[in-house]
Amino acid sequence: MATTLFPLFFLCLLACTNAEISKKMGVNYGQLGNNLPSPSRSIELIKSLKAGRVKLYDANPDILKALEGTNIHVSIMVPNQLISNISSSQSLANEWVRTNVVPFYPKTLIRYLLVGNEIFSFYSDQDRQTWYDLVQAMRRLKYSLKIHSIRNIKIGTTAAMDVLQSSFPPSNGTFRSDISIPVMKPLLQFLNRTKSYFFLDAYPYFPWSGDTTNINLDYALFKGNQTYTDPRSGLTYTNLLDQMLDSVIFAMTKLGFPNVRLVIAETGWPNAGDVDQIGANIFNAATYNRNLIRRMTSKPAIGTPARPGVVIPTFIFALYNENQKGGPGTERHWGLLNPDGTSVYEVDLTGKRPEFDYKPLPAPLNNEPYKGKIWCVVARGANRTALGSAIKYACGQGNGTCEEIRPGSDCYEPVSLVRHASYAFSSYWAQFRKFGGTCYFNGLAVQTTKDPGHGSCKYPSVTLSG
Ligand SMILES: *[C@@H]1O[C@H](CO)[C@@H](O)[C@H](O)[C@H]1NC(C)=O
Ligand SMILES: *[C@@H]1O[C@H](CO)[C@@H](O)[C@H](O)[C@H]1NC(C)=O
Ligand SMILES: *[C@@H]1O[C@H](CO)[C@@H](O)[C@H](O)[C@H]1NC(C)=O
Ligand SMILES: *[C@@H]1O[C@H](CO)[C@@H](O)[C@H](O)[C@H]1NC(C)=O
Ligand SMILES: *[C@@H]1O[C@H](CO)[C@@H](O)[C@H](O)[C@H]1NC(C)=O
Ligand SMILES: *[C@@H]1O[C@H](CO)[C@@H](O)[C@H](O)[C@H]1NC(C)=O
Repeated sequence: MATTLFPLFFLCLLACTNAEISKKMGVNYGQLGNNLPSPSRSIELIKSLKAGRVKLYDANPDILKALEGTNIHVSIMVPNQLISNISSSQSLANEWVRTNVVPFYPKTLIRYLLVGNEIFSFYSDQDRQTWYDLVQAMRRLKYSLKIHSIRNIKIGTTAAMDVLQSSFPPSNGTFRSDISIPVMKPLLQFLNRTKSYFFLDAYPYFPWSGDTTNINLDYALFKGNQTYTDPRSGLTYTNLLDQMLDSVIFAMTKLGFPNVRLVIAETGWPNAGDVDQIGANIFNAATYNRNLIRRMTSKPAIGTPARPGVVIPTFIFALYNENQKGGPGTERHWGLLNPDGTSVYEVDLTGKRPEFDYKPLPAPLNNEPYKGKIWCVVARGANRTALGSAIKYACGQGNGTCEEIRPGSDCYEPVSLVRHASYAFSSYWAQFRKFGGTCYFNGLAVQTTKDPGHGSCKYPSVTLSG
């Protein structure tokens, strides 16, 4: 044994950080849909996609059971709401591990245990105390795993790009001052000591769609025909994702942790969205994900300009389009698969398939900002029973939102629940879009460029000037 182990060990000294880490692509298995396949069917689909890893947003026992005996590496998650309680109770940490890990391990290849999801993001509405309790909760869970002699599950937490207060140029990457010293430093200390990872959610789609005049779409989609050189570091970038990853690496380095490895816990591109959302289409989504996969699975590993040659385990968001996610239309269209299990577009997670081998993609129709009027109307198939209270809500906001659908006014006749609701939605949205109001109404409403007006009834609209 010793004679065969020695050369392996020696090799590992040379390339250990990479050798132990699989380059296989991962996928996020989100379940916020009321029409999604069962866990066992989903695991079959994940296998047929040839994903090497799957990340869950919980520790769903049916899913963990369905993953038994597969060679898929699994990431599970402790809910945000439990972090503070676990931080103050070793027995609660032990119980969590006993309930959610021990029954499935090692038959299910649980490899990452994420403590909370994007808890540093303000939208997550997380009690700040959770930030200060995080590392203690991670320590307790680590100890709980040790009690069961489980040593190959890394503990981490996911962070979005908003943990940075500056990310440009990448060498200027700095953590937000409210979390840098009190939270990030102890977190990085824990990750460094336990040889775990910084789990980052990084979406080039967001900076690009928010600033299409200064950021080139080709740069966001890894086309490789545009470069940017950071004047301070001298490093040259060929794509936006590398820039984002390196800004985090620079931020970690500033805190004294230059060697904590990265995992991309989420990345992807929406395959559809609302009329007022640029660039969310199948063409861009397929291009982004295919190029991402080729990059992340390439041999030898590419890494980033600040860390060339280093493997970055990557999870694409997401397995499915999830119809119960709120917010703008893109939120419900990140999937590789439709809820019926069919592909939204062809994609090979092994990264071996060359671009010419794929069927041509539909031409992107919304890569330029939409110019013109948009209305907000009742979605096809909307639940009629729910429209009544939605009208009431829309009409109860703003100033004279629904004057025109009162009896005797221009939009009263023909009396129709759907027409009245469409009027109320359009009127509400025309007043409130500038304050962040959305055209969604729990899925009852969608944007349209087709004027719903009739006769002398004019529906209020939003005008986009590009
Ligand atoms: C955390 O503990 C408090 C106090 O024991 C309890 O009231 C609360 O329900 C717990 N929270 C969760 C999410 O279990
Ligand atoms: C670097 O970040 C700081 C904020 O942390 C910002 O004020 C400054 O403009 C950035 N530098 C450049 C060159 O963008
Ligand atoms: C990070 O871990 C490495 C390797 O274990 C160690 O040498 C280094 O001192 C640690 N860094 C900090 C800042 O704790
Ligand atoms: C990159 O190449 C494409 C053609 O493949 C071209 O349409 C585009 O303008 C180029 N972009 C840049 C920034 O040069
Ligand atoms: C339709 O909406 C009503 C009222 O909100 C609700 O009670 C009902 O369950 C919904 N029906 C369906 C099929 O979702
Ligand atoms: C409604 O009118 C008030 C007073 O004129 C104004 O301050 C407010 O901004 C208006 N609300 C909207 C949504 O336009």
